[in-house]
Amino acid sequence: MLNASGPSNADSHSRSLDLFLAEQEVISPGIQNLALLSQLVLHRGEGRVLTDVDGRRYLDFMAGIGVCSLGHSHPRYIAELTNQLNKVTVGSFTCENRVKFLTRLTSQVPGDLGLTQLYSGGSEAVEAAVRLAKSYTKKFEVLAFWGGFHGKTGGVLGLMGSTFKQHWGPLHPGLALTPYADCYRCAFGLEYPACGIHCLDFARQVIKLNTTGELAAILVEPIQGTAGNIVPPPEFLPGLAQLAKDHGALLIADEMLTGFGRTGRLFGVEHFGVTPDIMTIGKGMGNGFPVSGLISSRTVMSAKPYANPSAASSSYGGNPLAATAAWITLETILEENLVENSDRVGAFLLGKCQELQEKYPFIGSVQGRGLMIGMELVKDRRSKEPLDNKVCEIIYRESLQRGLLAMNYSPHFRINPPLSLTRAEAEAGVAILDEVFGYIEREVSYH
Ligand SMILES: Cc1ncc(COP(=O)(O)O)c(C=O)c1O
Repeated sequence: MLNASGPSNADSHSRSLDLFLAEQEVISPGIQNLALLSQLVLHRGEGRVLTDVDGRRYLDFMAGIGVCSLGHSHPRYIAELTNQLNKVTVGSFTCENRVKFLTRLTSQVPGDLGLTQLYSGGSEAVEAAVRLAKSYTKKFEVLAFWGGFHGKTGGVLGLMGSTFKQHWGPLHPGLALTPYADCYRCAFGLEYPACGIHCLDFARQVIKLNTTGELAAILVEPIQGTAGNIVPPPEFLPGLAQLAKDHGALLIADEMLTGFGRTGRLFGVEHFGVTPDIMTIGKGMGNGFPVSGLISSRTVMSAKPYANPSAASSSYGGNPLAATAAWITLETILEENLVENSDRVGAFLLGKCQELQEKYPFIGSVQGRGLMIGMELVKDRRSKEPLDNKVCEIIYRESLQRGLLAMNYSPHFRINPPLSLTRAEAEAGVAILDEVFGYIEREVSYH
């Protein structure tokens, strides 16, 4: 399949570089860092392998950031979308595939979350979820988490728990942030389980002292993605559900990344035995087609003004192509047992990553569920100071040269391959990482 024995993608650069540079003349700055650093120009994908315009091949350990669930060029996906393209592509009218998708989805979601509304982007869906929570509770404040990421649009920017939002103020009012249960980097310097899940007590205090008592929602990622695929301890989500209940607020689980089998369950919340009031969904749901949405109960979804005609809708949400992509993706995930594959191959890959951690002192932590795995790269295990971005960029480039595309350009290294990843491919990817990490250990002064 792929060559894990040495750099194979180092040479013949020209067509990609020419195209990349031509685009740089006409595209605005600010595109994704991983695209800028790699200068990749992809030609096609098949299964878990991408090929660039120079014929170089890459094992895909990022899946368009957790988007490509089925793998590239899945024949059923291509056939159904092509079929729909030949029929009708626009409009918010009922279409057969939308009925099929929503019916199938409803049979798979936890609890009584029986109604879905569709959108096209993640931020848009999270903003809609907040609007729905406001409609239902008639309150307006939202609590979110350090490290959290819910998009970059105005309504959710202030719910982002990172420095990314700096210099974009003023933010939307009525938002409060509190530490996530990131046990490797506990905000309180405590150790689990002796901490008694102090972050939950602290969140209660934040609601009491940092809000005006008008809490509409607690918004949380069941496993924090952008922060580095951080898995909270089992008590955290149930504790938040209780906290929301105690304040007459709704629990919104942002399942944009964790949904549709990514974590080895159909939805991330299933790991924690929690049924949220609203789930936001997207990314892996459309296997690359921009489709997102939110799911809730009939009672919550009926709240006005959200439920008024045209109040919840959008131009592209649930159009015939989007509905077809979502339908065929879900059908294929279920029929090809990709949730189980994510669980099984993910557990294998996690074990392999833990073996790498034993070997390389700059791997501070390895955690994950299913095919959503995170590695914290550090200068020193005691100080936990993140590895310099410059060193990570070397890791990224060396991986690409050896045929692996992975999100290891930052110290919060995330592994999110297509859910159809095989055990042999997992092994091949880890072999490349082993080689690259060996190179770093030998050749790069990273302390
Ligand atoms: C958990 C989560 N929510 C929301 C979003 C925003 O999605 P989009 O980029 O489609 O607006 C993201 C994007 O990475 C995400 O990871």
